[in-house]
Amino acid sequence: MDFWEVIRLRRSVRQYDPERDVPLEQIDQILEAAILAPSGGHCQSWRFFVVRDRALRGQLAVAAEGRKSLTEAPVVIVICCDPRCSADRYGERGANLFSIQDVAAATEHILLAATALGLGSLWVGSFDEGSVARVLDLPEHLRPVALVVIGHLSVARPGRRPRRPLAEVVEYR
Ligand SMILES: Cc1cc2nc3c(=O)[nH]c(=O)nc-3n(C[C@H](O)[C@H](O)[C@H](O)COP(=O)(O)O)c2cc1C
Repeated sequence: MDFWEVIRLRRSVRQYDPERDVPLEQIDQILEAAILAPSGGHCQSWRFFVVRDRALRGQLAVAAEGRKSLTEAPVVIVICCDPRCSADRYGERGANLFSIQDVAAATEHILLAATALGLGSLWVGSFDEGSVARVLDLPEHLRPVALVVIGHLSVARPGRRPRRPLAEVVEYR
């Protein structure tokens, strides 16, 4: 699929076919795309937890306001940041901004890679961090930043949500 087609086709997909799994090779492809993202100082602050276990996904769903796509779709990738490298190099700005931006860049690569493979995906940011950390027994230094749901669509890809026009969000100086 052409780059522009992928960009235009990506949607937040909220309905998944629970009967269709995502092969491990595709998950690997998606993660390989994720780590090609840029990162502040090349710290690569991202850490990925690929959750396929149904019971664990159920617990993540509870931590994410009961969002049912987490149990419907076969894969949830929990993307955490390890701010230590960014903090060492850039202090406060590294710890609280760059490490999060690293994760955001990797997350977008994941969404686009999933789209290119014909899969649906959803970036879930509304969740209780403490609960997700407990479900995955995360070490202290890791902060869960994004959950990404990946699977096969059960209905047609949703229509594109309208964007604020460029004229509203861009200024040339
Ligand atoms: C930081 C961030 C957090 C988000 N959190 C959620 C979420 O918790 N639940 C959800 O259904 N969608 C979530 N989304 C998806 C947005 O709602 C979606 O991207 C937006 O409505 C535009 O739709 P589109 O992705 O189909 O273009 C999130 C997206 C981002 C970037």
